[in-house]
Amino acid sequence: MALDEHIDRVLFTEAQIQTRIRELAATISADYAHTTPLLVSVLKGALYFMADLTRAMTIPIAMDFMAITTYGSAQASSGAVRLIKDLDEEISGRHVLLLEDIIDTGLTAAYLLRTLRARDPASLRICALLDKTARRIVDTLPISYRGFEVPDMFVVGYGLDYKQLYRNLPFIGVLKPEVVAS
Ligand code: PRP
Repeated sequence: MALDEHIDRVLFTEAQIQTRIRELAATISADYAHTTPLLVSVLKGALYFMADLTRAMTIPIAMDFMAITTYGSAQASSGAVRLIKDLDEEISGRHVLLLEDIIDTGLTAAYLLRTLRARDPASLRICALLDKTARRIVDTLPISYRGFEVPDMFVVGYGLDYKQLYRNLPFIGVLKPEVVAS
């Protein structure tokens, strides 16, 4: 079965995603016009978002990547996260923009904000492609740039996975129930 036949419903088409990313890129390019921001993303979900957003930006930027792991179900209660790969770059005095593919409970982003803020960046903001506010646990999470609000459904595609698959779909959708059950 072809990959897209596993999809029950498309929530955001490839064209919708790309249009929204171009809008975000224009806004961010204007906001950071007199700086060279460091765009940071967390592997692996934000892979395509980083690739497409940065290519649509019109100012010089640097990029860097982190990898983290969560402590199983403990994450839901404590937000306990371990860094597997840290940034290569020093961020002290730099303008850092954290890119996330999705913010769900907000625990990951809150952890990353705490970790990065402790390194004294000149500024630190969040840009999230998808915001699932219905699932938020963290009280206040300042999201400066947001692509789409997403309903409380398990979504895949455009970097988002189910059991490490479906990241390479160019759109964002919901899996058929029989796929999730199998
Ligand atoms: C996803 C996403 C965020 C996090 C959001 O990563 O990229 O980092 O979950 O969830 P939260 O707001 O509830 O903390 P995931 O752990 O699925 O890893 P991946 O990026 O490799 O898919």
